[in-house]
Amino acid sequence: MADGLILGIETSCDETAVAVVRQGREILSSVVASQIPIHSPYGGVVPELASREHLRNILPVVREALEQARVGYEDLAAIAVTAGPGLAGALLVGISFAKSLAFALERPLIAVNHLEGHIHAVLLEEARRQAADQEVLPKGPLPERQVLALVVSGGHTHLYLAEARRRNGGEPVWSYRNVGRTVDDAAGEAFDKVAKLLGLGYPGGPWIDALAPHGNPEAVPFSFAQIKAKAHRKGEPGALNPATTTYFSYSGIKTAVLRYTHVHEMEASIEARRAALAAMPNAKPADALPLCDRRTLDLIASFQRSVVDDLRRKTFRAAEQFGADRVLVSGGVAANRELRVRFTAEAAERNLPIAFPSLTLSTDNAAMIAAAAWPKFVAGECAPEGLTAEPSLALGASAR
Ligand code: KG4
Ligand code: ZN
Repeated sequence: MADGLILGIETSCDETAVAVVRQGREILSSVVASQIPIHSPYGGVVPELASREHLRNILPVVREALEQARVGYEDLAAIAVTAGPGLAGALLVGISFAKSLAFALERPLIAVNHLEGHIHAVLLEEARRQAADQEVLPKGPLPERQVLALVVSGGHTHLYLAEARRRNGGEPVWSYRNVGRTVDDAAGEAFDKVAKLLGLGYPGGPWIDALAPHGNPEAVPFSFAQIKAKAHRKGEPGALNPATTTYFSYSGIKTAVLRYTHVHEMEASIEARRAALAAMPNAKPADALPLCDRRTLDLIASFQRSVVDDLRRKTFRAAEQFGADRVLVSGGVAANRELRVRFTAEAAERNLPIAFPSLTLSTDNAAMIAAAAWPKFVAGECAPEGLTAEPSLALGASAR
């Protein structure tokens, strides 16, 4: 227990994930039970099925995480759990289990925001590489360093200004300010919907990522309409300050892709591809390549280039606006290869440090939840007794 072992539990969407992490830095185990095969036939997450699968998986996954870490329940210092945002029923499975475990073991329960978890996925790996830790947070007097974090996944496209303050040379305390968000679909959602409408598999991101290099990214010029400030005026519920907020929007490009397939009469080839992939027992992105003609590959490449470039332009513009001295990119879409290449190139041009999590920590996992819980544990920030699922839980203050 003196070791600072935290058991993290994450059930906000379609992965039942449990991890054991030592002092927010060292991953002893990170187990993810994916529900992709369950939701695949529907082309998206079915909330009722997700809750049922979490119920079925939670105990075996906890046991496996402890076994892989070679620790017992009594070795744990605390239990951490995702409190939101996410699917209410899915979150509740993790929260109820974590509460019972914390109560039975007489250990503190720590509530973590899923988005803060994604940010900590990057910090966790940097902390592991000790030298980089020095770079993120030099020890000594309080460093007022501003990090701009893009969290881009199936449910979120958010920009946060994150600031760490190290009190008395101890664990850094992080605070966040929300300075960007999507007004409609998240970027990952656009990848999923476009893949689905082109007859590819679920989740769509990895399929588009794998097929895009085979097409011409400049073949189809998509334009992103200016997001109107009107619908997001200051004072409206959930509105951020339009002068200091970056707005993303990805529902328009999905419609543009759909329109393109109609104009070019691609319906029959899309249905043929969908049927061919459905007939394969474990279809993978590579299986789709021979089923895609040039026009389809060009469309996929152009879609990906447009989304990645929109994310890149807006993220670096915000970094400049806020004078951020570092950029972090996390969430499922951060696994995208073109995104990594183009963000890294722009960061190098601007002489701005940039970091991504490893591919396994980009998508949902519980190591990031246990890592984000560590500074809270040290500060004695425990979850309230009445902790419950918060499907729309926000992270940090809004832009002023
Ligand atoms: O972070 P995550 O696992 O779950 C959420 O919090 O939403 O992200 C899942 C999302 C899905 O939309 C998936 O299509 C997308 O991340 N994704 C990718 C890639 N891998 C996963 N998008 C683009 N390229 C990828 N390689
Ligand atoms: Zn996520």
